[in-house]
Amino acid sequence: MSVIRSTVIGCGSYLPAKCLTNADLSRMVDTSDDWIVQRTGIRQRHIAAEGEMTSDLALNAARAALENAGVDAQDIDTIILATATPDYTFPATAVTVQAGLGIHHGAAFDVHAVCSGFVYALTTADAYIRSGMSKRVLVIGAETFSRILDWNDRTTCVLFGDGAGAVVVEASEGTGDIADRGVLTSHLRSDGRHKDKLYVDGGPSATQTTGHLRMEGREVFKHAVGMITDVIEDAFNETGTTADDLTWFIPHQANKRIIDASARKLGIAPEKVVTTVDRHGNTSAASIPLALDTAVRDGRVKRGDLVLLEAMGGGFTWGSVLLRW
Ligand code: UT7
Repeated sequence: MSVIRSTVIGCGSYLPAKCLTNADLSRMVDTSDDWIVQRTGIRQRHIAAEGEMTSDLALNAARAALENAGVDAQDIDTIILATATPDYTFPATAVTVQAGLGIHHGAAFDVHAVCSGFVYALTTADAYIRSGMSKRVLVIGAETFSRILDWNDRTTCVLFGDGAGAVVVEASEGTGDIADRGVLTSHLRSDGRHKDKLYVDGGPSATQTTGHLRMEGREVFKHAVGMITDVIEDAFNETGTTADDLTWFIPHQANKRIIDASARKLGIAPEKVVTTVDRHGNTSAASIPLALDTAVRDGRVKRGDLVLLEAMGGGFTWGSVLLRW
């Protein structure tokens, strides 16, 4: 049987130049390198320069992805940008990226699912492609979380960083078998009963301000591993695959302890886990494409590899995508 698959044909990423280390943070709030490394695995994170916006980060990542894919910007018909830190309340940051790339056709819009944003955006792109609405989609995760952090709150400001990652996804023909390249299955979930556990205390309708990130870290942690493993088991069950079939596990990079516990619970071997949280911190919607691009460029992820992506974040939202590279 011939089916339409959404195949990733290139990726790219961008990190702002400024690097903030745990030592730097320990001079700003009552924290230490030891505490941050032990509890999270984070050693440093990148911070956008003054005036450098989410769209600037996204544009750099998008250009790198287009170059990697060998695709001209004019051949993109849809841009889906995942962010919780847009340049402005509106228009969508995606249209600024669209204009920056000189694209005047097709559609560009933002997707908002916080840390699960990239998984939501990639799943949306896959649905558009499989329905025939889009042929070639630029999927971007880009964030400037440094702008919504309370830099006096040591329980949150040490955790996050800025960055962007992007992939180019193209319609291709498959057999419907799991040997196909492209997205094989994806699962999205959300549960708004948890919306007060990780949120921003401002917004246009509520306060007419931007607000700051607030999190009940322990509560989020408590739910994370169960939610993550649930949607991954859905992916395994639907495709008849197991942890042993995976070549790479590329999870959302929030906390090394969450990543390790999820991999352990699922029986995924540690050497298959791609981890960048030590260098990037939690970059929300950008974390998966940043980790993916890192592993593609250092030669780990190769054509034909079975790659599992997973994320969980504010809302709560969570989801998984299983794809063949
Ligand atoms: O991407 C979206 C999803 N987000 C996440 O996945 C984050 C999930 N949560 C976490 O990763 C962890 O809960 C944290 C890393 C946020 C916190 O780790 P924890 O092991 O849950 O620590 P805790 O919140 O239980 O805090 C332990 C202690 C507290 O002191 P007391 O009450 O035991 O005296 C905190 O006040 O550590 C203290 N603490 C700190 N100490 C030094 C909290 N933040 C810091 C800090 N430096 N930065």
